Amino acid sequence: MLRGKLVITGFGIQLGRHLTRRVESELDKADVVLAMMDDFSLTWLKGKYPALIDLSLLYGKDGQKDRRQTYREMELAILEPLRAGKNVCAIFYGHPGVFADVPHAAIKQAREEGYEAIMEPAISADACLYADLGLDPGMSGLQSYEATQFLVYQRPLDPSALVVLWQIGVVGDLTCTQFHTYSDRVQALVTKLLRWYEPEHEVILYEAAVLPIEGHREERLPLSELPNASFKTITTLVIPPKLEWLADHEALASLGVTEDALL
Ligand SMILES: C[S@@+](CC[C@H](N)C(=O)[O-])C[C@H]1O[C@@H](n2cnc3c(N)ncnc32)[C@H](O)[C@@H]1O
Repeated sequence: MLRGKLVITGFGIQLGRHLTRRVESELDKADVVLAMMDDFSLTWLKGKYPALIDLSLLYGKDGQKDRRQTYREMELAILEPLRAGKNVCAIFYGHPGVFADVPHAAIKQAREEGYEAIMEPAISADACLYADLGLDPGMSGLQSYEATQFLVYQRPLDPSALVVLWQIGVVGDLTCTQFHTYSDRVQALVTKLLRWYEPEHEVILYEAAVLPIEGHREERLPLSELPNASFKTITTLVIPPKLEWLADHEALASLGVTEDALL
């Protein structure tokens, strides 16, 4: 094992409140701390770690830089001090392993190069969602997709499960350069969702509170109204289940029971 260790961890969603002792101890031990989070959280964390390196500076202006290039640069910024034998801690908002390319790529690369590299879990946006909206994914099952990926590929959808679509705020941007979406792109997503849902099916635009002084956004609206809604880059689309579970008679028969056993 080479000298130098990489720890990639998460800040959680809400400023200060989701940071665990474990994460703080990793930050304290690190020679180099890099962070990717919103401005308020970054300023707060910089108060504790003044030498912190702000990875968000690597993003380009809206419409100008391919995010995949930004991600490669972030990965390099994390790996460079590691290759110099430093103990590196990179902290990302939310859970570092949930809908996050750079943490997984950096850990994989570091391990391939012979360094110790670990990921510490943290509170993600969907963890907040279950609490704020009172939705238990265990009740109906859960389908969770990146919104653009769901739109442009033939992905199956089970409307009897809870559906969570991430990155609705940039849905349809195939250039990976934009930080906003357009109503015609949201309409394309709605048109696709109408294969499974009625236009009046209620959906929820969800934003977990980032600052302890604010509440979460929980905007309920009919699916067909989605193109007129407003979106931020942190907005997540939640589609509650259509409760139409059909019994699997073959499986029930293999248990020696009928549908009556389900009531
Ligand atoms: C690149 S992913 C990062 C997710 C993050 N790693 C996590 O653990 O939640 C960005 C997407 O996460 C969701 N997200 C991030 N912050 C959120 C928040 N405060 N409320 C609701 N969803 C959020 C949105 O769908 C957003 O487009």
